[in-house]
Amino acid sequence: MNADGRTRLNQTPEWTALAKHREELGEVRLRELFAADPGRGTGYTLRVGDLHLDYSKHLVTDETLRLLHALAAATDVFGLRDAMFGGEKINVTEDRAVLHTALRAPRDAVIEVDGENVVPQVHAVLDKMAGFADRVRSGEWTGHTGKRIKNIVNIGIGGSDLGPAMAYEVLRSFTDRDLTVRFVSNVDGADLHEATRDLDPAETLFIIASKTFTTIETITNATSARDWLLTELKAGQDAVAKHFVALSTNAGKVSEFGIDTANMFEFWDWVGGRYSYDSAIGLSLMIAIGPDRFREMLDGFHLVDEHFRTAPAESNVPLLLGLLGVWYGNFHDAQSHAVLPYSHYLSKFTAYLQQLDMESNGKYVGRDGQEVDWQTGPVVWGTPGTNGQHAYYQLIHQGTKLIPADFIGFAEPVAELSDGLKAQHDLLMANFFAQTQALAFGKTPDEVRAEGVPEELVPHKTFKGNHPTTTILARELTPSVLGQLIALYEHKVFVQGAVWNIDSFDQWGVELGKVLAKRVEPALSEGADVPGLDASTTVLVAKYRELRGR
Ligand code: F6P
Repeated sequence: MNADGRTRLNQTPEWTALAKHREELGEVRLRELFAADPGRGTGYTLRVGDLHLDYSKHLVTDETLRLLHALAAATDVFGLRDAMFGGEKINVTEDRAVLHTALRAPRDAVIEVDGENVVPQVHAVLDKMAGFADRVRSGEWTGHTGKRIKNIVNIGIGGSDLGPAMAYEVLRSFTDRDLTVRFVSNVDGADLHEATRDLDPAETLFIIASKTFTTIETITNATSARDWLLTELKAGQDAVAKHFVALSTNAGKVSEFGIDTANMFEFWDWVGGRYSYDSAIGLSLMIAIGPDRFREMLDGFHLVDEHFRTAPAESNVPLLLGLLGVWYGNFHDAQSHAVLPYSHYLSKFTAYLQQLDMESNGKYVGRDGQEVDWQTGPVVWGTPGTNGQHAYYQLIHQGTKLIPADFIGFAEPVAELSDGLKAQHDLLMANFFAQTQALAFGKTPDEVRAEGVPEELVPHKTFKGNHPTTTILARELTPSVLGQLIALYEHKVFVQGAVWNIDSFDQWGVELGKVLAKRVEPALSEGADVPGLDASTTVLVAKYRELRGR
């Protein structure tokens, strides 16, 4: 029994039934499943918005899906979903509501936290962002010397960096190409150096993005950026107002830093860091693509929110994706999940999902405070597809690990490409389809032999197949489609956290390292004694100081 009175997840009849079903299925072959059901390619598909989802190449039968849905019902995934959309404080360890869905709600929606409708605040900030973005884009907002702003540098880390940095790459072809937009996150001074070394400070706007405005990496970089700007411009503090704006929930810390709170774009404690890029945290993106495109993106998010909130279980796409992850992680011992986009513009997409998924579901303690004794979140990894094909796909095809993968592709190349480059798109997508086919169906020894391959090479050239993949296909990559994709993954992560009974919205696991870094820093810089420092770190710190000639 859980501390909250619920039956332990892995003792529920629904879990036991899935375990038994897994045993009965044994080494079920995708070749057999397709042979037995010629309609599988059309039957095992779903649609949400512009996204066509094919899950036919999964090691599942109708019975598997029935049992997974029974598990979702038993764990009351939809009950928790409704509590989230309703503004209840489902982030139990921080006693907070979880309402990133309110960030993309239409103007007339009513969503209450502690009895207050938060939608008007959301739209007031969006309007303020739009006004500012327009002024920067039009050249009306100038720097301290009167020069037009041509460079935007977002300084933030984690959720205050990964979202806008990823989305800027994804939507590059929609951006104002006259603007240079860069993202600095690493406290390694090299990051800020490379981002600013060729910029004219008089034309540069720094956006300091930090929910708490206490994150040491961000505040350190922001301070260095301010020093750089004031030194280069030979200006006093008054120049800060024209070159620094803040995105934060912490007005006190923002003004302490020297940024006028009139130039602060706020969000709220019911927006988790990794769920924040469609809040004020997206300001750099909004400046790059313009407020209208940003709104289209929010509408894409909202479309999938509504689908998740209202679609029946059988056609609910995030629910399905979450349950498939449970199937592999808990019943096939899969440890990781690959996300493989066939779009150059999605080069940072998987890095973004790593925080979304791993910071949310990398937990061994349940919502009831008890340790779980089932697997939780997977390692999420991947890079754009064709590059991966010439690197790590070998292991997915012929390695010893089961790695479920999502393949994401688009029918149309982006409009901006020349006709010659657009012609390459069929080749890109041929690779996409070939890979999911090879992963699913492999190549039997007999098929290899039939090609005249010498017997000693047959085992090497055989592909067992049976590697599960989801295909997500859309016509084209637009701001709306990006919003749809991100919301899809957000809710997939939600579903898994609900099934595993963990709090997907806290992140206590990052705290210890932060505290220890603060303790160790004086030892590195001043040789200060750190009481209780372990023997290994003591020697390493001494070695570091020796190497630095201290
Ligand atoms: O890594 C922990 C974390 O709190 C993330 O959840 C968050 O996105 C990141 O740090 C940055 O935090 P902040 O926006 O407060 O600077």
